[in-house]
Amino acid sequence: MREVAIIGVGMTKFGELWDQSIRDIFAEAALKAMENANVEKIEALYVGSMSSGLYAYQEHLGSLMSDYIGQIGIPAVRIESACSSGGHAVRMGFLDVASGMHDIVLVGGIEKMWDVEDGTFVLATASDQEYEAYNGVTFPGLYAMIARAYMERYGLTREELAQVPIKNHKHGANNPNAQFPFEIDLKTILNSSVVAEPLRLMDCSPITDGAACIILCPLDRAKEFTDKFVKIRGVGAASGPIALHDHKDITKLEAVQIAAQRAYQMAGVGPNDIDFAEVHDCFSIAEIVVAEELGFFEYGKGGKSIAEGQATYGGKVVINPSGGLKAKGHPVGATGVAQIVEAYYQLTNQAGKRQVANAKLGITQNMGGSGGSSVVHILEGM
Ligand code: COA
Repeated sequence: MREVAIIGVGMTKFGELWDQSIRDIFAEAALKAMENANVEKIEALYVGSMSSGLYAYQEHLGSLMSDYIGQIGIPAVRIESACSSGGHAVRMGFLDVASGMHDIVLVGGIEKMWDVEDGTFVLATASDQEYEAYNGVTFPGLYAMIARAYMERYGLTREELAQVPIKNHKHGANNPNAQFPFEIDLKTILNSSVVAEPLRLMDCSPITDGAACIILCPLDRAKEFTDKFVKIRGVGAASGPIALHDHKDITKLEAVQIAAQRAYQMAGVGPNDIDFAEVHDCFSIAEIVVAEELGFFEYGKGGKSIAEGQATYGGKVVINPSGGLKAKGHPVGATGVAQIVEAYYQLTNQAGKRQVANAKLGITQNMGGSGGSSVVHILEGM
């Protein structure tokens, strides 16, 4: 396999983008990435989107987007794996370049979530229809069950759980592309409305419009285009049961652990080598469980370690310097690519006020549903 580099990135602001259609949003991010990478022609396009058909009544995104960004004729396809669609699109782009099939590949992620009235219904299509959605359980409800089980087993308090969104909003306050670029305090979280006990509004990632794109090429060609590039050193993906009740232990997300082990093995590194992580904090509890599955903290200790400051600047590993899904926003199909965009900024020293000092190795973890799929990438600054 050839080694693969990321040579440019682009993203839109995340939030409520009422003035732009799904194609406008994608084109903005894609053209920014192409300009950033100094490329005018791409050879293939992968676009991650969870449910453009239900959210924007638009399928066939590969061809639509290749046409709209002036690249008609290339192979172009949409990739879907619920909220890990973006991460899986990056993995497909990586495989395309690594295999030698194409040299210049654009990978994007997009979701336009605000245009439909019942976005919660759309999200629930990524859960088990027969056992979960049919019985009225939504994703906040599923993650609330994980939170309850974890809090009871490990003695995590409601106040400690709140430290995850407090930290991520603190980080996100320095991200101009974030949907909610401001800090929140404990009182605001504990007084926000209950969504699914014990999770409150401020524990939940929001509904978001947005797109993110990256340009890939063989590592040995990267310098032809730019002196700011990063290497994709490890890639891992895994599937898991999509129904929460089919997990052996609902306080664990096995697909995350398997995907991470595959990525660590390919990169030849372990959790102690990682400087920062962009992880899938769709709900406060998710960041805690994921941090344990990535090997940063022992099982049962993630919540307390994050509450003690181990996942922010000066701690063991900076988790979600971008603000994470909670503060940056979660346009589901775009999230996995946006995580890579943040890692690129960090590893090329372009993250401004949220820069992690001397960042050399970063990990990104993207998840579908309540652990039904996960994709992990390990990136290295050059
Ligand atoms: N952080 C900070 N502020 C937030 C916020 C967040 N995460 N989410 C919403 N707000 C603010 C909004 O800006 C709004 O403020 P305003 O009244 O001043 O305009 C207010 O809180 C209410 O937000 P709104 O979007 O109207 O709330 P809602 O009740 O319609 O939806 C949720 C809230 C949590 C139910 C919805 O965002 C949700 O379903 N999130 C989970 C999405 C999900 O499941 N994703 C997939 C994960 S696997």
